[in-house]
Amino acid sequence: MSICYLKEQNLFEIRTHRSTYLFGINERGTVQHVYWGSPVEASECADRLKPRHHSSFDAAIDQETEEFGGWGGTHFAEPVLRATFSDGVRDLKMVYDGFGQPGDRELVIRLKDAHYALRVEVHYRVIPEFDLIERYVQVYNDETQPVKIEQIMSAVWSVQALPEYRLTHVTGRWAAEFQLRSETLSEGKKTLESRRGFTGPHANPWFAIDNGKADETSGQVWFGALGWSGNWKIVAEKTTFGHVRVVGGVNDFDSSFVLDPGSSFTTPVFTGGYTSEGFGGMSRNLHRYQAEYVLPSSRPRKVLYNSWEATYFDVTAEGQKALARRAARLGVERFVVDDGWFGARNSDRAGLGDWYVNPEKFPNGLQELIDEVKGLGMEFGLWVEPESVNPDSELFRKHPEWVYHFPTREGTLLRNQLLLNLALPEVKAFVLDFMTELLSRYEISFIKWDMNRTVTEPGTMSAEGLEGRSVWIRHVENLYEIWAELRRRFPDVEFETCAGGGGRIDLGILRFADQAWISDNTDARDRLTIQEGFGYVYSPSVMMCWVTESPHGFNGRSLPLSFRFHSAMMGGLGIGADITGWSEEEMEEAARWVAVYKEIRPTIMQGDLYRLESMRNTNAAAYQYVGQDGQEAVVFAFLHSQHFGSEERRLRLQGLDPNAVYEVESAPGATVQRHGSTLMNLGIPLTLQGDYKSRLIRLKRVD
Ligand code: DGJ
Repeated sequence: MSICYLKEQNLFEIRTHRSTYLFGINERGTVQHVYWGSPVEASECADRLKPRHHSSFDAAIDQETEEFGGWGGTHFAEPVLRATFSDGVRDLKMVYDGFGQPGDRELVIRLKDAHYALRVEVHYRVIPEFDLIERYVQVYNDETQPVKIEQIMSAVWSVQALPEYRLTHVTGRWAAEFQLRSETLSEGKKTLESRRGFTGPHANPWFAIDNGKADETSGQVWFGALGWSGNWKIVAEKTTFGHVRVVGGVNDFDSSFVLDPGSSFTTPVFTGGYTSEGFGGMSRNLHRYQAEYVLPSSRPRKVLYNSWEATYFDVTAEGQKALARRAARLGVERFVVDDGWFGARNSDRAGLGDWYVNPEKFPNGLQELIDEVKGLGMEFGLWVEPESVNPDSELFRKHPEWVYHFPTREGTLLRNQLLLNLALPEVKAFVLDFMTELLSRYEISFIKWDMNRTVTEPGTMSAEGLEGRSVWIRHVENLYEIWAELRRRFPDVEFETCAGGGGRIDLGILRFADQAWISDNTDARDRLTIQEGFGYVYSPSVMMCWVTESPHGFNGRSLPLSFRFHSAMMGGLGIGADITGWSEEEMEEAARWVAVYKEIRPTIMQGDLYRLESMRNTNAAAYQYVGQDGQEAVVFAFLHSQHFGSEERRLRLQGLDPNAVYEVESAPGATVQRHGSTLMNLGIPLTLQGDYKSRLIRLKRVD
């Protein structure tokens, strides 16, 4: 049993394979957190339930460690619930009202207000094998009057007392997503959030806390990732009594909404975990969890070609066919036409919203290209950006009232586009209809779903009675519903989440998306940093990476084709260059790498990721993937630049069987046999010299 109620102590114990999570009901009826960490004997921990009192200024310190704290009375920490009742009362007194166990792995704690018929269910779902707990909350209004919900978060996570608390998170911007940061928390709050209507590249809903000493292979780490693709907020608060709690969920900023009598609201899931195996252990647990509990399918990523960087908006049937013929020679499995195939889309100034095939670019229709692509043995995929509209489009001229809009304001144009108010039922129906028509009419196996601007002026002109501020939430709910419905209608079509690069990646959208476009920055060196940050949280099996031109268009950096391939082979491999201009040598080398990728793909897709070295700390980076059955492993090693005479570098591998013998192939034909113990302790020499050199090392267990 993963969940146990210890009646005598009034404690709830959630056990995973390598952790214990404890909370209980204290004398005052508060649901109080007790412990989260390496396994303990639950029955011996009840003394932690005693209410604490310090002074009239800190009358109930124990409220700082509540499992679910509503704002009211002496609760002063970041609340999980704030509400205003119809009589104007803005105070909650949530009292424990029993529990339920819908299954072996689920626990529901019921709370209700002492006066009003407002009920809350706090849900826990245990994933014992990965030491994770999924949490979410349902709030029910059983009043006869509406209740205004000002703030409703998914969970509060309490971290064990530590001498120091280090918070690790990611920050970023367009073309530089997933940049890792860490800092020591002092008293006060550190807020990570999005107020831009989508997950955003500026931060990502994930946190990790350790004592400042955890590393890749060891140390205790507490962490959590939230599944919400709209405005979100994670607050890490260190109270003046030294307690650290992390509250996360839908951002309450500009987001209060009315809960009608008899209705309820369910928050997104906030998944938390604990490991004593450092940041590497954290990532691997999160990755396996995604594969088994989050992602919609376990299909391996297809090697894809994408036309964006080759043609931008200059899409023509002939041009795409020429690219397709070259792509097929490389071993590409899926050919994707990006932006520019529809309406009057000759630049980013027009056409968005007009989802019909441009007759000048495709005089014989799109099917001609699809036939060519399929004839070459590849699948066909298409780019769309359904939530956006250019003012210069037929759609906007017909439905100007569909965009987010405040009546007295000019809508802000970003990338010359406005955003459709997906919260409106008619807009939702429009998107679902045109996508259904597109996917029914053509043999499309893959959709890249983009979104290239943030939400601004989040008003609505509709008389639908939608309460203004709830659009933030409704947009995301409708988006999820559309994706779910499209997946139901077209179960064989795969979807990619993209928002001007990696602007919409989180555990919410990953319930519907097979893969993710993580950045528009395709420079293979910049990518190493972006991919590393991404991999802290998200599985390499969804991480799409393309090989593009050298010198790179963004930063002018020249990189060998092998370096570009190695960097892009660490997730789902794609090619995004103008391959019609590649020489025969380049084509042959690229085809060789694609063939190698297909051989190692199962190890990348289903294996465990170990970060061996990072360019955040040194001039080299190395990443190892160990196949699920332990029979094969691959290492990608990268050198930024070499210091002449510097000490010989050795890569100490991880995750191998110390007693097993492995055949190590550092270059085609150059193999040695070594024990796992030698490979993990002495390591293998990294004999890279010069600038921007890289190597793929393959290991096979031979005994
Ligand atoms: C942003 C995406 O991230 C790119 O890959 C490309 O699809 C462009 N949008 C197209 O407008």
